[in-house]
Amino acid sequence: MANEIRITPWEAEAFVDYDRLIKIFGVKPLTDSEIALLKRYTNEDHMMLRRRVFYAHRDLDVFLNSYGLGRRCVLYTGRGPSGSTHLGHLLPWIFTKWLQDKLGIDLFFQMTDDEKYLHAEGGDLENYNRYAYDNMLDLIALGFNSSKTHVIIDTEDIRYLYPIAVKIAKKITFSTQKATFGLTESTNVGMIFYPVLQIAVAFLPTELYGEQTEVLIPAAIDQDPYWRLARDIAPSLGYPKPAQIHCKLLPGLDVGGKMSSSKPESAVYTTDDPEIAYRKVLRAYTGGQPTAELQRKLGGNPNLCPVFKMYEMMFEDNDSKLTERYHACRSGTILCGECKRELAERVAKFIKEHQVKRMKAVDQVEKYLIRYKFDVPLIRKRR
Ligand code: TYM
Repeated sequence: MANEIRITPWEAEAFVDYDRLIKIFGVKPLTDSEIALLKRYTNEDHMMLRRRVFYAHRDLDVFLNSYGLGRRCVLYTGRGPSGSTHLGHLLPWIFTKWLQDKLGIDLFFQMTDDEKYLHAEGGDLENYNRYAYDNMLDLIALGFNSSKTHVIIDTEDIRYLYPIAVKIAKKITFSTQKATFGLTESTNVGMIFYPVLQIAVAFLPTELYGEQTEVLIPAAIDQDPYWRLARDIAPSLGYPKPAQIHCKLLPGLDVGGKMSSSKPESAVYTTDDPEIAYRKVLRAYTGGQPTAELQRKLGGNPNLCPVFKMYEMMFEDNDSKLTERYHACRSGTILCGECKRELAERVAKFIKEHQVKRMKAVDQVEKYLIRYKFDVPLIRKRR
């Protein structure tokens, strides 16, 4: 069913009908009451919540109530390191870092080098593994707390996951897996098994801490199929059902589609030369008219404009300035060139500063790796 609207973990339109996705995926819209609850614990109103960039959830209220009662709670998110990190990937991480800082809780972060190798047509496994380390620099550059952030690299840290994965695998049939992920008879068996590993991390904290641990997963809605399955099987394996908070997808700079590593021109990478990033934004598709004259006469359509979306979702935190920009576009008083130039400057500045932090991150990597921090839980119990 999810395929009707072309959104799976591996393929997604950008201007999807997000309200329809709520129905198809069976998630709940984020309401003022969950936002107020979150504000009670964070004392801050995050722009991505106010604007419903994060817009849907499952059991966020249950998670926050557990947090309020002092139960053990953690965050979980991840990355499939298929190449350099782009701004779309950073979006949920920026929010996750805010949650970590405000709630003071641990984060488990999975790097699925195996997933990306299995999914790609060609490529060396070693290369995806290298990207796992490269992409960690982005995580560190964003300022995640090293003592509270634990990175699992699948091909190297599988012993943390495998005993849990085996139990999960026994609960999921091939036909469920096929229907959930849109797999076919010619899908390789690695991809058939892989979802089990992404689910396993949601249950790992309970094993590591030796107590029921509530998990909240902040990620874009494209990852939802994993969590539906995880929640179905959690009770039968004795784990709490993981909660989710879902964001929308940052659009790519070209026509339609999310910002995606599979379309390099649609994406601004954190490794792009700031000058290149600047030029990519200047070349972006917009919701404007074909000529300046028509734009002045008819105005543009910010609702279908990736440039406006980038302001709205990441690069303009001042609400009144955003509203002004919206109306200036609608009424044709601002032309696309000017709007793109301003965004290009912000993006290039962000990338430049981020790259300085990335360089400093190089010798911090070990502090984040789970293997230097936790014993392998089930093996330890058996000894
Ligand atoms: P990946 O590498 O495709 O994406 C990493 C994270 O970025 C989100 N994302 C986006 N968010 C906003 N706009 C976009 N254009 C955009 N593109 C991607 C994804 O939703 C994700 O949160 N299978 C996963 C790796 C993974 C994971 C996880 C992700 C393993 N465990 C737990 C989230 C939570 C993947 O390939 O993500």
